[in-house]
Amino acid sequence: MAKSLSGAGLRGQVAGKTALSTVGKSGSGLTYRGYDVKDLANHCEFEEVAYLILKGKLPNKGELAEYKAKLKSMRDLPAALKEVLERIPKDAHPMDVIRTGCSMLGNLEMENDFSEQEAVTDRMLACFPSIICYWYRFSHDGVRIDTTTDDDSIGAHFLHMLHGEKPRELHEQVMHVSLILYAEHEFNASTFTARVCASTLSDMHSCITGAIGTLRGPLHGGANEAAMEMIEGFTSADDAEEKMMGMLERKEKIMGFGHAIYRESDPRNEIIKGWSEKLSKDVGDEVLYPVSVRCEAVMWREKKLFCNADFFHASAYNFMGIPTKLFTPIFVMSRLTGWAAHVMEQRADNRIIRPSAEYTGEELRSVTPIDQRD
Ligand SMILES: CC(C)(COP(=O)(O)OP(=O)(O)OC[C@H]1O[C@@H](n2cnc3c(N)ncnc32)[C@H](O)[C@@H]1OP(=O)(O)O)[C@@H](O)C(=O)NCCC(=O)NCCS
Repeated sequence: MAKSLSGAGLRGQVAGKTALSTVGKSGSGLTYRGYDVKDLANHCEFEEVAYLILKGKLPNKGELAEYKAKLKSMRDLPAALKEVLERIPKDAHPMDVIRTGCSMLGNLEMENDFSEQEAVTDRMLACFPSIICYWYRFSHDGVRIDTTTDDDSIGAHFLHMLHGEKPRELHEQVMHVSLILYAEHEFNASTFTARVCASTLSDMHSCITGAIGTLRGPLHGGANEAAMEMIEGFTSADDAEEKMMGMLERKEKIMGFGHAIYRESDPRNEIIKGWSEKLSKDVGDEVLYPVSVRCEAVMWREKKLFCNADFFHASAYNFMGIPTKLFTPIFVMSRLTGWAAHVMEQRADNRIIRPSAEYTGEELRSVTPIDQRD
């Protein structure tokens, strides 16, 4: 007989095996293939970490150069995809745009069999920033941008297309760190979606499209946007404290705080907080960073709740001039690596994921003929 659930949300249940990451266990609390995320964020570029997650080892210089050159050559979009993007309205949510973009790509460049899984993943990694920015710049500025920049990294390519000029080194560096921090996180909701889809032997684009839809929600990836909307409504640290106390009294959820697995801190927070502070000084900000720091202090003091990866990402992205509604799609550009690696891992040792449910409905009954029903 199936065991009854001890709690909602499958919390604490082991739902499968992975060699990709650990959350809340060794090192600082998050490891990718045995490396501490802090170590990776301090010493690597995002492309090195993507290579590690997808191929199982850190690349040497030659392998990294080859990988980056390959990704660079795959940035352009097919004309049919550009046509679709041009038809999506300006007020669409960019997460819906990237979901559609991914799905459309699957129609145009389908994964014919699993031997193509690495190639289709590389293609998505290379062109997701192009999809987001092509739509954004066309719908908001009326321009058809060139999606084949010669920038060295995925993060720089994204910022270049978004702002129409090569990004500063500081911003490229922050993008590397941000994309590393978001790259992989064990059996979170979107990754689990991707694995469930993979377990039916579906194609890579379907797995990733489903994961994007799951990431979209404010309890998951959408939290960085919700955090931004909150902090930009505060005029000072004191104003933030007063308003947050009211929110807590009304038992409102504060986005960017708390975590399903971490209990005392999210290791990603310390890293992105440091970069947010650096960017704050760089732009001469006197509001957003002090407001964010006060929010963190109030939440810890009142609720023992800590900032997760999303909270200081909000101010960091804002300081780099990234529009709030593009925050979650950046998460997609990065987490794609984790999702695809999980799909490959699932495929390598697959059994269809099909749990059971604890039935809470009516006892067995028979159908009353329609003319005798109330
Ligand atoms: C991440 C999240 C979904 C985890 O949910 P969870 O595992 O159910 O959370 P917990 O079991 O730790 O919650 C314990 C208590 O703290 C409260 N809590 C958790 N996060 C909270 C938050 N951000 N604001 C206010 N209260 C919060 C819960 O409501 C719960 O209270 P209750 O016992 O009175 O119901 C949740 O913390 C949340 O909604 N955070 C905001 C969204 C967010 O930032 N998501 C990004 C995650 S990386």
